[in-house]
Amino acid sequence: MDIKELKMNPFTEIGEDWALVSAGGREKANTMTVSWGGVGVFLGKNVVFAFIRESRYTKEFIDSGETFSLSFLSGEYRNALALCGSKSGRDIDKWKETGLTPVIDEGTVYPKEAKRAFLCRKIAAVPVDKESFIDGSILPQWYAQGDFHTMYVGEIIKVIEK
Ligand SMILES: Cc1cc2nc3c(=O)[nH]c(=O)nc-3n(C[C@H](O)[C@H](O)[C@H](O)COP(=O)(O)O)c2cc1C
Repeated sequence: MDIKELKMNPFTEIGEDWALVSAGGREKANTMTVSWGGVGVFLGKNVVFAFIRESRYTKEFIDSGETFSLSFLSGEYRNALALCGSKSGRDIDKWKETGLTPVIDEGTVYPKEAKRAFLCRKIAAVPVDKESFIDGSILPQWYAQGDFHTMYVGEIIKVIEK
């Protein structure tokens, strides 16, 4: 679809309904739940922002590839999203466990069941480290264990809306 036709509320759809960040290729791909992130404009491009902690297996796929997707599923997939947000793809095959089907489009993996997917080309990976924070009082709450985020900026190459 044309991105100009898009009607979404990123605050509820990411923050409350949750989304999936998926990366990888035909042989192997992984997906994880996110409730932080955004959509917007950077360097004259329509982009998504995703914040991924160092420990996530999905990060290895994002780092080793050129693309990732941010996708949205309807309420019936809430349990699938809960599983993708609590188990690691290092330990289980999330596609098999959830019944979600990985499909590749524009060289990017996303779940076929998604009601909407942004297929993205990675354009920046920005470490969000201790020094990034102006208000250091936030750190103990979110980074007691370290495990800092990387902010990925992905140029939206294609929007799929069903
Ligand atoms: C509702 C929800 C939101 C989450 N949001 C994020 C997020 O924005 N960034 C992040 O790094 N992890 C987030 N997580 C945690 C990962 O989804 C979780 O650690 C997952 O098991 C990682 O899977 P992986 O190791 O297969 O990549 C979230 C988990 C849940 C349940």
